[in-house]
Amino acid sequence: MSTIPDEPSKPKYAQGHSASVVASHMSRTVENSASFLTPHLKPDSVIVDLGCGPGTITRGFCAFVPNGQVIGLDSSDAIVEQARAVNPASEYPNLSFRVADITDRLPFDDASVDVVYTHQTLLHIPSPITVIREAFRILKPRGGMLAMREADHVSIQPESPVVEQYWRHVFSSFRGMGAQGDGCGRRLHLWAQEAGFDRAKMLVGAGATVYTAPEESKWWAGLHVGRLEGEIGEKWLQNKTVASQEEIERFKTALKTWGDHREAWYGLMQGEVICWK
Ligand SMILES: C[S@@+](CC[C@H](N)C(=O)[O-])C[C@H]1O[C@@H](n2cnc3c(N)ncnc32)[C@H](O)[C@@H]1O
Repeated sequence: MSTIPDEPSKPKYAQGHSASVVASHMSRTVENSASFLTPHLKPDSVIVDLGCGPGTITRGFCAFVPNGQVIGLDSSDAIVEQARAVNPASEYPNLSFRVADITDRLPFDDASVDVVYTHQTLLHIPSPITVIREAFRILKPRGGMLAMREADHVSIQPESPVVEQYWRHVFSSFRGMGAQGDGCGRRLHLWAQEAGFDRAKMLVGAGATVYTAPEESKWWAGLHVGRLEGEIGEKWLQNKTVASQEEIERFKTALKTWGDHREAWYGLMQGEVICWK
């Protein structure tokens, strides 16, 4: 899989779409990333996935809504093209992908959609409340629902101050672009209320993404080493997130050591909130 270059006129996405970033998105499925939502889906639901990336979660919804429609939106032309290529219409007749900036007016009529879903996208957006307000507008009254799953914080074992510092840098790079970064998960229900949803019609919970030794931790550490060796390492040097190449090398070594540890454990706490209109 090759690196997708930055698109200058598009909203800035701090992580970019390098192979090592997209590989982590491709590992996501409805089962590991949207199980809090699936019991509420109806066979004819129309679902819109905001910031769908390569669409592996998006396509997973199709089996739950055989008489409905699933539409993924992403601002990157290149990732939408990739999503269409890996999820062909011949296999998923009720699935489509569109290029759209979700911080603009969403390309749907008022009260026309049953479910809006978003995963690991609002933490990259400087104006999540605007996006949630738009979700409210397009949802059908009485039954329409917004489901959000966003990162809150990372925990690792064994302790590694250098790996922990790496994670702080990752989230601060999101904040450097005006977005919330970590701590999003615990705020979703607050943002939803500011956007017009009623607290009495919300399910507010959390889940976790966990990678353990031996295989998952090694894979996860390897993806992050790859990010540091590529576009993200270059960006961090350019914008002085890190002081020097030596600091990057220090992160890479610590990530590899952590990933190879026989009892390595990574946990990402994720806020999971469903709001009914
Ligand atoms: C971390 S990825 C998540 C992808 C997918 N939801 C998943 O969980 O695998 C965030 C995605 O949001 C997209 N994105 C960022 N800002 C956006 C915007 N303003 N409008 C639409 N998509 C955006 C990025 O291009 C990227 O593909």
